[in-house]
Amino acid sequence: MRKNIVAGNWKMNCSLSEGKKLASEVINMVQDEIKSDTQVILIPPFIHLTSIQSLIGSSAQVSLGAQNCSQHAKGAYTGEVSAEMLISAGATSVILGHSERREYFNESDELLADKVKFALENSLTPIFCCGEKLEVREAGNHEQLVGAQINQALFGLSEDEIQKVVIAYEPVWAIGTGVTASADQAQEMHAFIRSQITSNYNQEIANSVSILYGGSVKPENAKEIFSQEDVDGGLIGGASLKSRDFTNIIKAFD
Ligand code: PGA
Repeated sequence: MRKNIVAGNWKMNCSLSEGKKLASEVINMVQDEIKSDTQVILIPPFIHLTSIQSLIGSSAQVSLGAQNCSQHAKGAYTGEVSAEMLISAGATSVILGHSERREYFNESDELLADKVKFALENSLTPIFCCGEKLEVREAGNHEQLVGAQINQALFGLSEDEIQKVVIAYEPVWAIGTGVTASADQAQEMHAFIRSQITSNYNQEIANSVSILYGGSVKPENAKEIFSQEDVDGGLIGGASLKSRDFTNIIKAFD
């Protein structure tokens, strides 16, 4: 059965001391308060990975993720961070294709296909983000666009590989805007994504892939969104920076 996952993407926020405080609070709250076996992933900026990993230790429920990684193994790529470095710092997953990377750093689905493949070859779990902008939704082309994103970046993977990917559906119009997709809109897109996995692989594989929703998830709306059949958790931005809010979102699965 697929896992429920709540991942906190800190983006470019938190000094080292702020990050350590935040992570410690979340780790303690998860240990003391969470009843479900929901997997929690903390995704700080690269420079804090090692420090946050030493706080996570060998927790069974909390793990470490990174916000991006290079498609290259090593070499003269100033400013880049490799999959091997992430693994050596304790990360087990990596966000790939976040809309901010697509928008500000021109990441294409072609590049993301390489990054996904490369992450998997290095035993990192890709958290692959897809989602449409507002004008695409208004034009009624959201399924077509998200279908093309996952087709180009993911559907070249083998049956074995696709089952190791986590997908995050994040409508761009809902990211950091305070506007959340309705539970129905989220379910509709998650079911669509799962149906695409079924058509390209099979039903059993589709049922094994966790699909997270992202975009203005808060403690107040998490329960309704996460209770949808095809929503297996969330990728949380703003609300992951407050330990109480983030923990209350994780509690939506309790
Ligand atoms: P948000 O961000 O929760 O602040 O909307 C989500 C994301 O970008 O992953």
